[in-house]
Amino acid sequence: MCGIVGYVGPREATDVIVRGLELLEYRGYDSAGIAILEDAEFQMRRSVGKLVNLRRRLHAEPTAGHQGIGHTRWATHGAVTEANAHPHRDSSGRVVVIQNGIVENYLELKGRLIEQGITFHSQTDTEVIAQMLGLYTAEYGDFQRAFGQVMSELRGGNAVVAMDQTQPDLILAARIGNAGAVVIGHGDEENFVASDLPAIVDYTQHMVFLEDGEMALVRSTGVEYIKLDGTPISKTTTTVAWDPVSAAKGGYKHFMHKEIFEQPRTTTDTLRGRVDLETGRIDLDGLNLSDAEMQQLDCIYAVACGTAWHACLINKYFIETLARVRVEVDYGSEFRYRNPVMNERTLLLALTQSGETVDTLAAMAEAREQGVKSVAILNAIGSQAGRLADGGAIYIHSGPEISVASTKVFTGMLMAGYLFALRLAQARGTLTSAEIREHIQALIEIPAKIDTMLKDTAVYDQLADLYHHSTDMLYLGRWVNAPIALEGALKMKEISYIHAEGYPAGEMKHGPIALIDERMPVICIATKDHVYEKMLSNVEQVMARGGKVIALINPSDKLVRSKADHVIEVPETTPLLAAVLNVIPMQLFSYAMAVRRGADVDQPRNLAKSVTVE
Ligand code: F6R
Repeated sequence: MCGIVGYVGPREATDVIVRGLELLEYRGYDSAGIAILEDAEFQMRRSVGKLVNLRRRLHAEPTAGHQGIGHTRWATHGAVTEANAHPHRDSSGRVVVIQNGIVENYLELKGRLIEQGITFHSQTDTEVIAQMLGLYTAEYGDFQRAFGQVMSELRGGNAVVAMDQTQPDLILAARIGNAGAVVIGHGDEENFVASDLPAIVDYTQHMVFLEDGEMALVRSTGVEYIKLDGTPISKTTTTVAWDPVSAAKGGYKHFMHKEIFEQPRTTTDTLRGRVDLETGRIDLDGLNLSDAEMQQLDCIYAVACGTAWHACLINKYFIETLARVRVEVDYGSEFRYRNPVMNERTLLLALTQSGETVDTLAAMAEAREQGVKSVAILNAIGSQAGRLADGGAIYIHSGPEISVASTKVFTGMLMAGYLFALRLAQARGTLTSAEIREHIQALIEIPAKIDTMLKDTAVYDQLADLYHHSTDMLYLGRWVNAPIALEGALKMKEISYIHAEGYPAGEMKHGPIALIDERMPVICIATKDHVYEKMLSNVEQVMARGGKVIALINPSDKLVRSKADHVIEVPETTPLLAAVLNVIPMQLFSYAMAVRRGADVDQPRNLAKSVTVE
């Protein structure tokens, strides 16, 4: 979630960088900082809070130069303090570093550096990079080689940008693993580095995107691209449109498409800094419930609207299975009018992307009136739900969701809900710490599995070619996948305007089976779990009536594969977490159908992103 901007060229670097950081404000951050190379020395200015504080600081202590880097930080390792704000410098003061990501092996690396006598001035993993870079640069006498070596020793998804004060007119940038984007903007006698296009698109339209394991040597006169080991590579320049909307789309045709593809990163962002695999610790920063309060809970009302309501249904399975607390799911619009039974052992759990949905807010207000605490799982920072959540706000940190149809926020709500369930389990003693560690392991593998699912999406276009004329569709799933069937049907309705219904598959015989004929595509979620065989029977029943089965299966599946008309493979995970993966094909299929039908994907008719009226 951190924002990065770098500049080298004839302009005043501070102006370009601070302006760029302002254009990234939507990412959310807690502190900001800048390093400018002025007269062969770094001038650093950092401050906590909004960028206006950094501006004030720069006004009081100005700095001038033509090369610099800047950063907006969203804390992962270490509190929100000036000392923890980026850029970070090594002890000799020779190199400065900014980073977006998490150094998973930072404790091991830090231990090594402390043994070598290095004193740390912050609690961040970023300073570890700066200190290593300082040492290696001194040892090799070669900044570029040192940078490549440091990057190759880091584990985790990381984007890093660095400068060496003995190397004027040079900024190094690299990306490893599943990190946020690193964009190099090519100008005329000036060049730029950024985490997002909007930060630099006012200056240039010619962009190069770094891939995993790639490095850029950015000078005012040009940019060289190499692998971490120094092997030169050639990169393709993409010319992006000038307007800020297209820039924000980052090369995707629609925001929905972009947001679907952001999910490997956004699901990682929901976990960042909150789980510790070694100790099994779950740290939900914003949660304001004591262990005693969590222990005495006997009912959680999970309340939301639309897609967020589907996320509530899935969180019910997570919480009931892992923490053994009863969860009742309700629509915000119903809850507020039904005089719900609550007492001092009740908690309200509100799920909302915008934090402004009036019915969800009304449910929170109702709980407050009855003396019941609310916890909110939400995305938009500064929204009303965050203020009403006296039990704490768990931000999913998915970044702005522009497309009306929710995608990345849905998976974020599932990841955050799972963390909440584990935190409850920890407080209530329903899982051992070894079991919690196993759950964390499965959870942290999810982003990479989503990434795999996004590698080849040709099947969705083929399905859209075959089925875009359908007028009705049926979605079936059982257990934790029953709500995924509802969500799949909602996505299809919303953006392609095809009538679609989602059902728990066991209910098929009690009504919807009457609709099935050879014109009806039926999406069956049949990944492996304890109800797999029941789903297999549903598949057979649909086929016996001539319905066209599109089945979600695990790669090892033979039975459903041999029967279904079409299959979509979903990587294996735990039965509960399968819900997070199984929604991805739902999103991609409805997107492909909507595009094929020429619909207005990002702004479907009659819908609004934030429903602030009843
Ligand atoms: C559907 C969708 C909506 C929202 C619902 C709640 O794709 O996005 O159904 O989920 O309007 O909105 P929030 O989460 O902002 O409360």
